Amino acid sequence: MRILFITHSFNSLTQRLYCELSALGHEISVEFDIADAVTDEAVARFVPDLIVAPFLKRAIPASIWSRHVCMIVHPGIAGDRGPSSLDWAIQSGLPEWGVTVLQAEAEMDAGPVWAEARFPLRRGRKASVYRHEVTEAAVIAVKQSVARFVAGDFTPQRVAGQALPLMKQPDRVIDWSANSSASILARLNAADGFPGVADSLFGEACHLFDAWPEATLRGDPGSLLGRRETAILRATVDGAVWIGHVKRPGGIKLPATLAFPEAASLPELPLDAYWKAPAATWQDIAYEEAAGVGFLSFEFYNGAMSTAQCRRLTAAFRWACERPTRVIVLLGGLDFWSNGIHLNTIEAAESPANASWENINAIDDLAEAILRCNSRLTVAALGGNAGAGGCFLARAADVVWVRDGVMLNPHYKNMGNLYGSEFWTYLLPPRVGEQGARDIMRHRLPMSALESVRCGFYDACLPAPGFAVDVARRAAELAAAPDIEARIAAKAARRAADEATKPLAEYRAAELAEMRRNFYGFDPSYHVARYHFVARSPHSWTPRHLARHRDLDWKIPA
Ligand code: COA
Repeated sequence: MRILFITHSFNSLTQRLYCELSALGHEISVEFDIADAVTDEAVARFVPDLIVAPFLKRAIPASIWSRHVCMIVHPGIAGDRGPSSLDWAIQSGLPEWGVTVLQAEAEMDAGPVWAEARFPLRRGRKASVYRHEVTEAAVIAVKQSVARFVAGDFTPQRVAGQALPLMKQPDRVIDWSANSSASILARLNAADGFPGVADSLFGEACHLFDAWPEATLRGDPGSLLGRRETAILRATVDGAVWIGHVKRPGGIKLPATLAFPEAASLPELPLDAYWKAPAATWQDIAYEEAAGVGFLSFEFYNGAMSTAQCRRLTAAFRWACERPTRVIVLLGGLDFWSNGIHLNTIEAAESPANASWENINAIDDLAEAILRCNSRLTVAALGGNAGAGGCFLARAADVVWVRDGVMLNPHYKNMGNLYGSEFWTYLLPPRVGEQGARDIMRHRLPMSALESVRCGFYDACLPAPGFAVDVARRAAELAAAPDIEARIAAKAARRAADEATKPLAEYRAAELAEMRRNFYGFDPSYHVARYHFVARSPHSWTPRHLARHRDLDWKIPA
């Protein structure tokens, strides 16, 4: 079928459905929900058999739903209506939630139901629940709905329901002198990554994001107890909560200590080395060891890696290389393995060009440390999504395992035609061929975990349930294998041979020469694209690589 996606943006859920339905043989074209007239035009050009709306913030115009079946993906159970479904469910601590696919009609979210899928509601952040449970449920419900539509023997059912209102800031407000840590975490989790909770720090208004529990430190409720790297600790009536990110009025979302330089006056509350803390606390880089394997996780908000984070992670990796292990597994974070350089901290810098240059060099240093590690087998285990430089940073490891369902965007051009670095010119072509590398970079499309293995970019796609256990078991098997020393020696020999053919320094210098042009050259595309990306500017057109119906040679198939 020809399926038109009408969506607010090409977010990770939309990308996942795009890959899943394409894999079933459907032809997908995408139009961003910019204006009714533009949507009408897209429908007229593409003449879809079916319209799917994976992520919409407004109603579909009657001119469209009255003539085409439009399936809306709603992040709530059947009967739930309203624009803050997940927020209410998380804040009130419901045990179960779900995704419904319903048919668009005049009243928002009130149309008949094509399919519903439910899941146990994790005590996590809204954005994280969206990227995991909601996405998996949406895949099940959309595939079922499309199959029912194709079969033509299913009548979507009306479900009685009630609309909950938009959750506003008064519904989210935190009383630091009265609320428990658990209820504060629930409020912050329900508001992450948008819109955050309106509050204040150092007497200045701001929105809070990225909350972490703290199990041991305490103080006067509401007082600021200290800082750790980029986070600030605030006391509650029964403990304390870490705030990782904040957004000040008119500003962008930033690490808390960067947004509030006043935080420098708070006491630093360091952790001992890299070992995973025994009790809950803020720890973005954590190390654990078992069965000859070192596991390094890096829980960087939104997968963005600033210069300082890259340097700290490089130091942690080097430290891990001194441990008595044979295998090092780079676990990344829960939602993201890495999305490359940190565009927000770059935007906030006095000189974004200089900050970009420092950041790309810092991430290249990390990639180079992984590539040059001759004493251990390195594994990148992607349980979360990866984009741009993050995809190639993972490929710097000897082996890459990826969780089924992870979305990858191994290209840079969407960020104002960035050339990219992280040794992609060394790492990509041997895996997918010169032409394959050119296609991946040029097409700028997302890649599913399965596709990444099929095309040879990554090594294995592991089932989503039990991914972490599977990774630990496989890594332990690698470390205990009789040929582990031979494998390490072989990889060192391969690296030496590659170095003799063309040194890593040459790849790096050539990539960075292009990046220098992107950062300092006449063409401001990267700076403009970065500005709009961090400002979350609404789209004003749909890129051609997504809106296939806007190709000049597009013709409705006979
Ligand atoms: N730096 C800073 N923030 C980043 C980031 C980066 N490199 N990559 C993603 N984010 C942030 C987004 O701004 C967004 O912030 P929010 O919390 O305010 O919503 C959040 O992460 C989620 O990103 P979003 O784009 O909504 O997620 P997605 O899963 O739909 O899309 C990507 C994933 C990777 C396609 C997309 O985030 C992207 O293009 N990132 C930029 C990658 C890049 O160009 N890196 C620099 C070159 S190495």
